[in-house]
Amino acid sequence: MGSTRPGRRGGAVAGWAVQVASRHPAVRAGVAEIEVIDLAEQALPLLDEPVPAMFGDYRQPHTRRWSAVVAACDAFVFVTPEYNHSIPAGLKNAIDYLYAEWNDKVVGLLSYGVQGGNRAADHLRLILAEVRAAVVPTQVSLSVFTDFDFSGSDPGDPTAPGRIAPGDGREESLSTMLTEIVTWSDALRAGARTPAVEGSPELVG
Ligand SMILES: Cc1cc2nc3c(=O)[nH]c(=O)nc-3n(C[C@H](O)[C@H](O)[C@H](O)COP(=O)(O)O)c2cc1C
Repeated sequence: MGSTRPGRRGGAVAGWAVQVASRHPAVRAGVAEIEVIDLAEQALPLLDEPVPAMFGDYRQPHTRRWSAVVAACDAFVFVTPEYNHSIPAGLKNAIDYLYAEWNDKVVGLLSYGVQGGNRAADHLRLILAEVRAAVVPTQVSLSVFTDFDFSGSDPGDPTAPGRIAPGDGREESLSTMLTEIVTWSDALRAGARTPAVEGSPELVG
């Protein structure tokens, strides 16, 4: 969950994702397990590590805790809103804290916002490439206007969370994304067990 704001809609979006994932064949077969990671609970301060994360020299207890959380997972669904054309600062900060823990991990993007949060998702693809995570092609975008129900709320209340009401095809898209995540994750873990190709003239030039 990439938003930490009091009254955030991110909780409802993540809750819907967990419901859909619980019905996915891989989860039903026990091949995949789901865990919700809430950035608000991690309570990471603005990056306060003296050494860049790619060196893996973590000095702060909160970094070591966060490292263990991310290292324990094979894949992630990033549930992100769009804030000012990008991802929330807290989510970027949480990514920046680590490096090796993201490498070769598979990611699916579930964004939301006034326009589906697509610009946040686009930015995440670039950011995650830098930490060598593999983002699957299928992406799910929920619009605050069409995938939420505000009946019963005061239309003038900007804090009304509304009720999540995903439109047609959203569940199918999320399920397809989850299938890609499981397939890619299996492939990457199998690749990690295979010795690297050495001495290939194409690779070494
Ligand atoms: C600081 C801030 C900036 C926002 N900027 C955008 C934006 O650029 N594009 C957009 O579609 N929605 C934008 N929104 C609307 C949010 O996407 C929407 O309020 C969403 O529910 C926020 O997620 P959250 O409730 O989990 O915090 C913004 C909201 C906030 C709080």
